[in-house]
Amino acid sequence: MLVTLKEILKIAEEKKIAVGAFNTPNLASLHAILGAAEELSQPVIIMHAQVHEELGLCTMDEIAPIMLRAAEKAKVPVCVHLDHGTDLDYVKRGIELGFTGIMYDGSALDPAENTKNTIAAVEEARKTGASVEAEIGSMGSRTSGVQDDESIYTDPAMAEKFVKETGIDALACAFGTVHGFYLKEPKLDFERLSKIKSLVDLPLVMHGGSGVSHADYREVIRRGVRKINYYTYMSRAGAAAVSGKEYKQFQDVMWDAEKGMKADVKTAIGVFSGLLCD
Ligand code: 13P
Repeated sequence: MLVTLKEILKIAEEKKIAVGAFNTPNLASLHAILGAAEELSQPVIIMHAQVHEELGLCTMDEIAPIMLRAAEKAKVPVCVHLDHGTDLDYVKRGIELGFTGIMYDGSALDPAENTKNTIAAVEEARKTGASVEAEIGSMGSRTSGVQDDESIYTDPAMAEKFVKETGIDALACAFGTVHGFYLKEPKLDFERLSKIKSLVDLPLVMHGGSGVSHADYREVIRRGVRKINYYTYMSRAGAAAVSGKEYKQFQDVMWDAEKGMKADVKTAIGVFSGLLCD
C-alpha cells in the first residue's frame, strides 16, 4: 500500500518505533527490502538517492515507476522517497514522477540558502501531497574522514528556526552518524538529539544508520528518531553473500545477493520495530 512519508511517520510515532528507509538502486535490493518488510508485517520506506544516479546505478526515471508499482502492490504501508535531492529541479522531477516523500538536502549550503530552497521544495511537494524531509547540519561521508567532527552536528536552536520557517514534515539531524563504512565505532551525541527533539515537534531522521549498534538504535528511537536511513551495511551483506563463490550464471549471483541483503534488512527492521530484542 503506497503511503506518504507523513503517514508512515505517524504510524511510527503511534507505535514509538522507527521505520527503516533503505535505498533501492536495483531490483535485487527492492525485492529484498519489500520481502523483509512483508515477512515482518512492518511499514517500510524505499528510497532512490540522487547520488546513485550520478554513480550510474540507475536513473530516477527508470526506477521510480518500478518502486511505485511495487509499493502499491505491497501488503504493508510503503513510502516511495527521494533520498538526498540536492538540486531543486531534480526534486521537482521526483515529485512529478509520484514520489510520496522527498528529501531536499541543502545542508552543504549556508543556512539562509538552505531555508530558501527548502521552502521552494515544500511548495512544490504540496502540489501533489508529497511530504518533505530536510536537513540542517551535515552527516558528511566517512571516506572524507569527518567522523567525530562536531562542528557539522545540528545546532538545536538553528534546527528550531529552520523547522518554523520551512514547514517541513521531518527533520534530518546530525549527531554523530555519517554515511558509508564506519572507520571506528560511532559515538552518538544523545543529549543533542534530545535537545533538538524538545525544540522541534517533528519526527526526527537519522542518516548514516547502518553500522550502528542495536543498543544505540534503541536509544535514538527512545529519544524521537522515527526514520532510520540504512544502506551501506545492507549492500555489504549482499556482497558478502556472493564473495568467494564460483557462479556460472549471473542470475544466481543476483539471487544469492538478494537473500544476503534480505537477511540483513530483516534484522534492521526487527530492531527498529522492537520485534527483535537482544
Ligand atoms: P549508511 O551509509 O549508514 O547506510 O546510510 C545511508 C543513508 O543515510 C542514506 O541517506
